[in-house]
Order: sequence, then C-alpha cells, then structure tokens
Amino acid sequence: MTTGLDIIPLAKPVIGEAEEQAVLEVLRSGQLSLGPHVPAFERAFAERVGARHASAVSSGTTGLHLALRAVGVSAGDEVVTSPFSFVASANAPLFEGARPVFADIDPVTLNIDPDAAAAAITGRTTALLPVHIFGYPADVGALERHGLPIVEDACEALGAQHADGTPVGGRGHPAAFGFYANKQLTTGEGGMVVMGSAEHKERVDSERNQGRAPDMGWLDHDRLGFNYRLSDIACALGLAQLGHLDDMLAARARVAGRYREALAGLVAERGLMLPCDDAGGNVRGWFVFVVQLPEGVDRDVTVGALRELGVQSKPYLPAIHLMSFYRERFGHRPGEFPVCERAAAASLALPFFPQLTDLQVERVAEALAQVIAT
Ligand SMILES: Cc1ncc(COP(=O)(O)O)c(C=O)c1O
Repeated sequence: MTTGLDIIPLAKPVIGEAEEQAVLEVLRSGQLSLGPHVPAFERAFAERVGARHASAVSSGTTGLHLALRAVGVSAGDEVVTSPFSFVASANAPLFEGARPVFADIDPVTLNIDPDAAAAAITGRTTALLPVHIFGYPADVGALERHGLPIVEDACEALGAQHADGTPVGGRGHPAAFGFYANKQLTTGEGGMVVMGSAEHKERVDSERNQGRAPDMGWLDHDRLGFNYRLSDIACALGLAQLGHLDDMLAARARVAGRYREALAGLVAERGLMLPCDDAGGNVRGWFVFVVQLPEGVDRDVTVGALRELGVQSKPYLPAIHLMSFYRERFGHRPGEFPVCERAAAASLALPFFPQLTDLQVERVAEALAQVIAT
C-alpha cells in the first residue's frame, strides 16, 4: 500500500524539442542507418571528451567487447577488473574466452584499488579494465605504470575529470561510454568507444559492422565481425543531447548538492555514508546518488519501506563475484573481496535525475529518515 503521493522514480531522461526535431528529421530523410549523423555524433563526442577517435556502437557492453578485442585480449588471457560494477564489465572479457580476475576496491572511491590490482596481475594478464564507478574517476594513472593495455569502463562517467584535468575517456586508452536511458546522455540504447589510436578505430569500425573494411562492398568481409552498429536515429538523438549536456550535468550536480544538505542529519546522527567528495582534483560526472546504509539497517527492508512511502530505490550494486553465474563458473565465495562485499551489502541508489526538485529531494530524505530511524 502506498500513501497516494506521486511515486518518485529512480531515473528520468531529459528529452525536449531539440531531440524531437532531430529524430523527426532523420525519420523524414528516409536514411535511418549508416547516415551522416553517425560520424557527426562521433566527432562531437570525441571532441567533448578530448579523444582523438570515437566509434558509435549499440551499447556500452558491445563497446567494451570491441575495445577489448582492439587491444588484443583473446582466449586464455586474464583481465584484471573490479568486482564492484555492473555485470557487463566482467562479462566482456568472457565474450572472448578471457577470464575476469577481480581485485578489491578502495573503500572511499569504490573504484579498483591500484595495489590490489597490481597484486592480481600474472603472466597471463593482457589487459586492465578499470571501471569509473558511479562516475568517479578510477586511478588510471596508477594502473598505467604496469605498461599493460588498459580498457576503461566509462559507461557511468560522462563529464568526469581526472586529477590532472584530463576528461575521463581522454587518456588515449579505449574507453566505453553507455547511453542507456538512465545515463547522463541517452540514445535509448547505445554506446561509444573513444580511443587515441587510429588502428583501434579502424578495427572497432570494421568489427561493429560485420567485419567490413571501409573500402569493401556490402558482401565482402575480411575478418570476423558483429552487428554492433548504432542507428542514425540514435546518433541524431545523441547529438541533440550533447547540445545541452552541460546543463544536464550541472543539474545533476545541483541535485547531488541538495541531497548532501538534506541528508546531513542522517550522516551525523545515523552514520549514513554519502558518495565521496571530489578529492585531489578528480571531478565526478554525476550519474547516480548511492548511499551506504548504516550497519544493522537491512537494505532490502529499506527498499520496501521506501516504496510504501512513494520513493523508488534499488540495491546498487551487487558484488559481481557473488552472482550465481560467477560463483558457479569460477567458484567464488563470500570473503574474497571484503571491501566490495561490504559496499555491495549496504549500497542503495536513491532517485536521481536532472529534473528532481528540491521538494522531491526533501521527500526522499524524510522518507529515508523515517525508515532508518525505526
Ligand atoms: C559500469 C557499467 N558498465 C557497463 C554498462 C553496460 O552498458 P549498456 O547497458 O549500455 O550495455 C553499464 C550500464 O549500465 C554500466 O553501468
């Protein structure tokens, strides 16, 4: 039973006239695939994140897959990555028969701990796959010291910036962004691989398009490929979104600031933990607002009680190594990555999107106070 109040959803895209016009134009043009909006979106996106090249793909997941292939990950290899992520970052190496090797996370940033990553590297490691979780930049600089190829999962991190001022995605490594409907920028479904190497770009472009070289006819293929293309409609939508990305990012940051104020009491009195502050020059690209519930508060009960009060929330994220598929396939057990497991057990995503009003933030904070005080 709910209170009769409007339900506050977890996420909501910002779609305005610019998006409607852009999509209508493509529909009226009759060229719905492989049209001019694909390279236009790629160029604009690459420029935005300071990357030399970009290839539009059908999702963040397919982007990660092609990025791993581009750096040469293949069967029998190991890829060191974070267990505290959306499952796709660990699945991507498996698509190639490579093994995701997990390393525990930093308790503050919740990103892969560079020392744990270093300890997980073996003679079979052929790539490192840091995830910029919840839009906070992973310490890619520390990982670069190993001299191994790096593929960045930047699916949650559009708008984030490293300590040295480089935008996430602009360090030259292949990095995958995701454009699912809850992301900072959405094309409904979609993604983008950005990279510094022209060779990588050539390979990603070919493999997303059934293994065709650019100068080949439709029916010739010189390598294995996939259909991981993004439509012209989606790219037009993405371009329109890019046009007001700064406003959307600023609105997300504003909502995050309001949450900090509204939840300050629960932090002081109940030990609620908020997303870490930007530190050392790192800048978060706000994607979700995930709190860590105090010890002794049952997260699943909290989700149900918030729902009764008209507030959507969700456990975010579960530890990947403890998912049934990973337990069965690799024999993972609780206790292997204690920092990740603690964070995973306590993490709760609250409603978070640019249009969230101050009043709604207050309502969420009051509901959470009511639920965890009892
Ligand atoms: C960290 C992370 N990696 C990968 C993905 C996969 O992106 P997509 O859903 O576009 O395939 C997501 C999307 O939710 C994500 O959050």
